[in-house]
Amino acid sequence: MEVVIRPDVAEVDSVVADVVERVVRSGSCVLGLATGSSPVGTYRELARRHRENGLSFSGARAFLLDEYVGLPKDQEQSYFSFIRAEFVDHVDLDPAVVESPNGEASDIAAEAIRYDRAIAEGGGVDVQLLGIGTDGHIGFNEPGSSLRSRTRVKTLTEQTRADNARFFDAPDAVPHHVLTQGLGTILEAKHLILIATGESKADAVAAAVEGPLSAFCPASVIQWHQHVSVVVDEAAASKL
Ligand code: GLP
Repeated sequence: MEVVIRPDVAEVDSVVADVVERVVRSGSCVLGLATGSSPVGTYRELARRHRENGLSFSGARAFLLDEYVGLPKDQEQSYFSFIRAEFVDHVDLDPAVVESPNGEASDIAAEAIRYDRAIAEGGGVDVQLLGIGTDGHIGFNEPGSSLRSRTRVKTLTEQTRADNARFFDAPDAVPHHVLTQGLGTILEAKHLILIATGESKADAVAAAVEGPLSAFCPASVIQWHQHVSVVVDEAAASKL
């Protein structure tokens, strides 16, 4: 595992964009995209490189980590819509090859199995971006998640619902259930990049990087992976 500590958020975004750019320029590739606020600066930096330097995503495909259950996909808080508004609409990545779990499926358990298979059949993810929740979750794998879990339904903790309420009109509007790639699914990506900025992430980053490998901090599962980059600003690194 490499831990890259940069002085501010802009430099974090630039380091992560450099890695994604290398993968994208190497030819056809599969990107693992995260939602939440942590990767947004990276997406903006990649869109700038697309506009100004001709960085093309036409050979890329992508899979999202997770989705809310029961939220219409055209609602702006859905991760389907979020990734289009924050990234896909600003580059030449074909929206048709940006896949996400279908949180509106009538058979959610079957949808989880289908999505997990689609990732494997798509050749697996070359580079997976990850944020981290204040409780140490990645994707929506809340504390207690099995370290070998596959894509499945999870129930959000009240802490995660409160953390994510800022994206919704009212705290009660945050769904209780989600579909998320499992920890075992995430571990199959070839390169994991965990992005964290700000002091509110410092405890979770320390637990993920230096704590025991434990289901109590799902992000600690990255210690099991052979190719991990943790890219953080000084505030998020302050408890390392
Ligand atoms: C959500 C997402 C995670 C993300 C986390 C942190 O729960 N499902 O993928 O890492 O939020 O969000 P943020 O980056 O906004 O702090």
